Amino acid sequence: MSAIGRPLERVDGRAKVTGGARYSSEQAIPDVAHAALVTSTIAKGRIAAMDTRDAVQVSGILAVLTHQNAPRLATSPDDTSEGARALDLLQHPVVRYAGQPIAVVVARTLEAAHQAAGLVDVQYVVEPHEVRLEPRVEQATEPRDDDPPAASSRGDVEGRLDDAEVRIERVYRTPFESHNAMEPHATLAVWDGPTSLTLYDATQGIFDCRDRVARLLGLLPDHVRVVSAYLGGGFGSKGPTWSHVVLAAMAARHVRRPVKLVLRRPQMFGPVGFRSQTRQALVVGARRDGTLTTLRHDTVVHTSSFDEFVETAGLPARMLYACANNATSHRLVRSDIGTPSYMRAPGWAPGVYALECALDEMAEAVDMDPLQFRLKNHADVDPETGRPWSSKALRQCYGVGAERFGWSRRPSRPGALRDGRALVGWGMATSVYPTHRSPAAARARFRADGALLVESGTQDLGTGTYTIMRQVAADAFGLPPERVEFRLGDTDFPEAPVSGGSMTAASVGSAVVAAAHDLRDKLVRLAINDPHSPVAGEKAADVALDDGRVFHRHDPARAESLQALLDRQRLTEVEAVAEAEPGEEAEQYAMYAFGAQFAEVRVDADLGQLRVTRLVGVFDVGRVLNAKTARSQLMGGMVWGIGMALHEETVLDERLGRFVNANLADYHVPVNADVPDIDVTWIDAADPHANPLGVKGIGEIGITGTAAAIANAVYHATGRRIRDLPIRLDRLL
Ligand code: MOS
Repeated sequence: MSAIGRPLERVDGRAKVTGGARYSSEQAIPDVAHAALVTSTIAKGRIAAMDTRDAVQVSGILAVLTHQNAPRLATSPDDTSEGARALDLLQHPVVRYAGQPIAVVVARTLEAAHQAAGLVDVQYVVEPHEVRLEPRVEQATEPRDDDPPAASSRGDVEGRLDDAEVRIERVYRTPFESHNAMEPHATLAVWDGPTSLTLYDATQGIFDCRDRVARLLGLLPDHVRVVSAYLGGGFGSKGPTWSHVVLAAMAARHVRRPVKLVLRRPQMFGPVGFRSQTRQALVVGARRDGTLTTLRHDTVVHTSSFDEFVETAGLPARMLYACANNATSHRLVRSDIGTPSYMRAPGWAPGVYALECALDEMAEAVDMDPLQFRLKNHADVDPETGRPWSSKALRQCYGVGAERFGWSRRPSRPGALRDGRALVGWGMATSVYPTHRSPAAARARFRADGALLVESGTQDLGTGTYTIMRQVAADAFGLPPERVEFRLGDTDFPEAPVSGGSMTAASVGSAVVAAAHDLRDKLVRLAINDPHSPVAGEKAADVALDDGRVFHRHDPARAESLQALLDRQRLTEVEAVAEAEPGEEAEQYAMYAFGAQFAEVRVDADLGQLRVTRLVGVFDVGRVLNAKTARSQLMGGMVWGIGMALHEETVLDERLGRFVNANLADYHVPVNADVPDIDVTWIDAADPHANPLGVKGIGEIGITGTAAAIANAVYHATGRRIRDLPIRLDRLL
């Protein structure tokens, strides 16, 4: 029986709930000193003076690092080559955003570090800042980074919009949002010598972290080891290497002791990325029969004054529907804020929200059922490139979802469904997210004790990497998963990419399969070449390996255990290392995961109180490796979608240039009472082209479409179209 697909329990679950799993800041390292950040309270200006006299009086203080005494670096923190973020590493007195690290205090205890950090007195020369988006939309500029291209166009959008039979123009807005992983960003830096460093870091990308830190500190990458064994969520925020990681290493070198730096919750709003506010203008043209003829999607988002990140909300409009005349653009407003960054389904989550609301509005304008309207404009090939889809079961997703939800009973008129005082509304939306893959490597070892050990320098954000890789290795090698161990999160292991873009299963899974197959081939050759083996001298094609035994295909009685083979050869283990990388399929096919989401909301007719009461999601994510972790991933995305629709907003005080709800009391996320019983299913079919495992990525698609389905349901309940997220009471009343 194959291990893949089974709802295997998380292999790290027991360790996590019993406290046995050591996160980055929980490593038992002797003589650890504690660091605390001092961050700027102004959004723009210079540090005129920094008085640390009181801070250094605190008992147990070891050092206060500021721009005046911090060591100079080997390369500029503003060097953003290789996808790195510009960092703030105490190299100058310039303040570029509120919350910028401006000093690091190191002490023997955490309490002393925090107390001393509070005693650092900073005098600023304040300059006027600008953090507003709307009044500066006209001044927005083209991104420098053109991968993917910031603008696109096909057909004749302007000409065709003028003579569209039905035309709507709408602006949708989404707010700043913050990741709020349960585990804060944390780094424990241990110098093993003057040029050799180990970092236990809460990172989604240990190799990127290693290379970035090595470049900045002038070390050989081989002399930096990064360990990330467990993560309490990342969602993109732990993708790039941020300032505190390097500051921890600088501080540890300075005080000649291991240093632990854990960000406090408010410090996670500003210097470690967030989702930019978006302003998305859509113009949609259609014929009266419901054929989409034109689609224009223009996005304006923030970036920081010193670095560039584009929230690519216009990408879904390029490919989701058959539409001959199409144009998209992205422009940037430079603001005195920290640099925005990747957050679960970057670009796609806000982009699908706006697009799928606009589609709903157009469906009503042409008097069609929203689902029929989408089916009528279904894209049978990728309209942007003309390429075939690697696989696309979106029609089935719509069909299964509509059936499970009971969509056919939906009255078309808004406000028609009532239950006592409650207005009831039903809405739907499409989900979509691209299928990515990067080169990755893995090492597989069969040991004389009969176990298979597989290692790859990937990460597990809490998504289930440990578990699914064990399943993949078990099937690829031919052992039950109980006899397989998978290790990750160490740059001493073969290199794997950042865990982002929903690509870990595709990238690392392919490498694990390759390593397991190479190891089988090696063991078969070993058996053939062993004169005492029951398959001695046979052709490799006639020898098989399964369940830890090697045997003759046509005479299975000629068999022995791999352990017997290793014993005779006096080997403690046999090892194979393999790399796997994407091939030409990326140029031949358009590769995406798809889905359909259906939402029911209830709105109190008098009070405007709003609840999501049902949510159905049906996904085409290719082959599902583990039914349990897959369901959790998709459901987690949908729960986040509820938050995006109704709760989440990082509030920026424009006068101060500061995020003012930088804590978990004021930054609202859905709690159990906000989340109905969510119905998650999938069309279980492997993608024949995307990668050897046939997976399409599962970590991000769940959040796409949810907010639109809910906003569309709110309209259906109330006749009120809220185009600014989140849909708060005050916007609804
Ligand atoms: Mo994800 S936002 O690509 O870690």
